[in-house]
Amino acid sequence: MSSVLPGQVQRVLSGMRPTGRLHLGHYHGVLKNWLKLQNEYECFFFVADWHALTTHYEDPRGFEESVWDMVIDWLAVGVDPDSATLFIQSRVPEHAELHVLLSMITPLSWLERVPTYKDQQLKLKDKDLSTYGFLGYPLLQSADILIYRAGMVPVGEDQVAHVEITREVARRFNYLYGREPGYEDLCRAAIKKMGKKAGKLYDELRAAWLERGDRDALGTARELVEKQMNITLGDRERLLGFFEGGGRQILLEPQALLTEAAKMPGLDGQKMSKSYNNTIGLRESPEEITKKLRTMPTDPQRVRRTDPGDPDKCPVWQFHLVYSGADVKQWVQAGCRSAAIGCLECKQPVVDAVLAELKPIQERAAALADDPTLVKNVIAKGCRHARDTAEQTLQDVRRSMGLEYK
Ligand code: TRP
Ligand code: SF4
Repeated sequence: MSSVLPGQVQRVLSGMRPTGRLHLGHYHGVLKNWLKLQNEYECFFFVADWHALTTHYEDPRGFEESVWDMVIDWLAVGVDPDSATLFIQSRVPEHAELHVLLSMITPLSWLERVPTYKDQQLKLKDKDLSTYGFLGYPLLQSADILIYRAGMVPVGEDQVAHVEITREVARRFNYLYGREPGYEDLCRAAIKKMGKKAGKLYDELRAAWLERGDRDALGTARELVEKQMNITLGDRERLLGFFEGGGRQILLEPQALLTEAAKMPGLDGQKMSKSYNNTIGLRESPEEITKKLRTMPTDPQRVRRTDPGDPDKCPVWQFHLVYSGADVKQWVQAGCRSAAIGCLECKQPVVDAVLAELKPIQERAAALADDPTLVKNVIAKGCRHARDTAEQTLQDVRRSMGLEYK
């Protein structure tokens, strides 16, 4: 159940590990999605440097350059600091406080059964990942999400399990700390304070929702509660929580917003990734990019120029699917299968389209790289706003746990 009130804009949160300069896979897979989201929602995008530490703890000294390079690329592709809050995880230490509090109520077994825990240990065999930090990494991610009360988390398939555990942790937290002593009595008293008429309506709407699942009743009741002038903020939250049949929603259960599997393959047809050495970097020179595309593999059956080929077996075709219009695609299909065109000829429209796409991005990146103060100011401002927002949730969290000590 989401506790977003009518008229309230949902928050979106996503993090990216600082891997340095970004490539076309990031652009088509993740960043274009961010560009869309930043216009529709209140977005928080951050550099997950602590997450990078969980697997690369042995040498974090190269992080700094990677962090700034990544932020430059975000800005260069059009992530807009006036629309989205951009920050660095370790500059918002509130994430760590929430993480430690959540760690107290998180069963070890929940963490041990997260699929990435075993998968990554097997995949990164040369690393010792039997650390406390690595086991707790999904919970750190939960803290990242919950501290902003984000309703939506754009992630790839591999991260869906982390959003799921986040939901479980939020639910457990609300269950443990969302009920005050004498909760039911306090709710009854709050209903009384609304006055006879509104109180009666509240009771009727509550029955309609709890007994018949009437969604309209839920909306109407929220409006009713929001409208009350002479009740306290605490009562207001109580009444909203009571309506939904549980305790107060201190932490919001987020939804995963599944980012489509990468449309952008690497130069060899596999997923574009630095570890496969098949990337086109956003800031690589036009000469390098042209060379990479001209030498990329094609249908292996097409050995000689006169051999017909099959686009379905050729990674260049995958690029046409991303970059070419219907006419060019038709030209490729016909020309390849009849050996009417050569592979270099076939690649040329892709080369042109990639260079055209990257030109404005590269120009902006160059300007940003020349002005480090600008980039640092964007992040400083984002960190301040992120901290303020995070602190609001933490105050609620501390209060509900009885750790406010006023
Ligand atoms: N774990 C994510 C990754 O490795 C990065 C990340 C950290 C994240 N915290 C997050 C993503 C919160 C979404 C929301 O890619
Ligand atoms: Fe691939 Fe194009 Fe060559 Fe066909 S003509 S094999 S699609 S590069």
